[in-house]
Amino acid sequence: MSASDSTEHTRRDFLYVATGMAGVVGAAGVAWPFIDQMRPDASTRALASIQVDVSGVEPGMSLTVKWRGKPVFIRNRTEAEIEAAREVAIEDLKDPIARNENLSGEVPATDEARSAGEGRENWLVMVGVCTHLGCVPLGQAGDFGGWFCPCHGSHYDTAGRIRKGPAPTNLPVPTLTFVNDTTIEIG
Ligand code: FES
Repeated sequence: MSASDSTEHTRRDFLYVATGMAGVVGAAGVAWPFIDQMRPDASTRALASIQVDVSGVEPGMSLTVKWRGKPVFIRNRTEAEIEAAREVAIEDLKDPIARNENLSGEVPATDEARSAGEGRENWLVMVGVCTHLGCVPLGQAGDFGGWFCPCHGSHYDTAGRIRKGPAPTNLPVPTLTFVNDTTIEIG
């Protein structure tokens, strides 16, 4: 790859990230249109699974992508965020179930069970739709340093688990696989 190829690649990624973030900021505090999810058009159905380049997402950075009409948060967590989530006892969780599509059965919502798996515990991938009434939570906010939904005050921790407020369940982890070290396939 030449130097100019590399520059182009970086610029494209930046635009992709910037567009994703703008979409989320614009949608904050507004109910996500569920009706669109229930009646997906052809273009949405065609994107049943997506591949995301996360090579530029350093620890402490997040990326939001659109998947099946919904925002998906991809976060490369810091050591401090992982530690904070691991210190929480399962008994203290409002929703003790992992809600991870990649695990079968009702697995306890440990930090490991919420993450992208062994060796990739730093990656947290979740559908970014509040489980209360569907707003888009804000990242790195709220009482637990995870996500905060401003609509009615739901606080999620650094593993995306609901800790306070009216939301009943953890933010769901969709089906995902690492195609390689820097590419995640969602769906
Ligand atoms: S929609 Fe998030 S708290 Fe109500």
